[in-house]
Amino acid sequence: MDLSILIKAHSGIAILALIIYIVRGVMMLANSTKTNSAVVLSIASVITLLLFGLGVYIGFAQKLSFADGFILTKLISLLLFVAFGTIALKQGLSKIIASGLWLFGLLAFIYASLIATHKVAPLF
Ligand code: HEM
Repeated sequence: MDLSILIKAHSGIAILALIIYIVRGVMMLANSTKTNSAVVLSIASVITLLLFGLGVYIGFAQKLSFADGFILTKLISLLLFVAFGTIALKQGLSKIIASGLWLFGLLAFIYASLIATHKVAPLF
């Protein structure tokens, strides 16, 4: 399959992941019990898995290794995005702490996007 189509799909899925993250952040601020409902969690997890899976596939298709700085930095960014989001969107945290953690997750996501578009150099 044409790699440029897969890269476009990966970018589209990244935008979807960002929209879901923002919507869940707003739901968390509004104290919505649906923030972590089974449906919302499933959609968020599937989209994140697709983002990861397609990224890995494109990386292999481009003959990049997991030790490649671009891949490593993006993997770490995705991990931070998921980890901060998971903690921030849990119920029971104060709004200030939850919003701060949520913002760190957003920064990790933005960082991954800037590396992807080669606007910022990878960490390694
Ligand atoms: C928060 C996580 C991520 C975001 C926001 C993201 C975003 C993007 C975007 C927007 C592009 C398209 C860049 C362009 O059009 O020039 C892209 C490309 C790419 N991404 Fe990701 N990505 C993420 C995670 C990953 C992961 C985890 C991997 C691999 C393990 C990965 C591997 C790649 C590769 C190999 C490309 C093609 C780069 C190129 O040919 O220039 N991405 N990513």
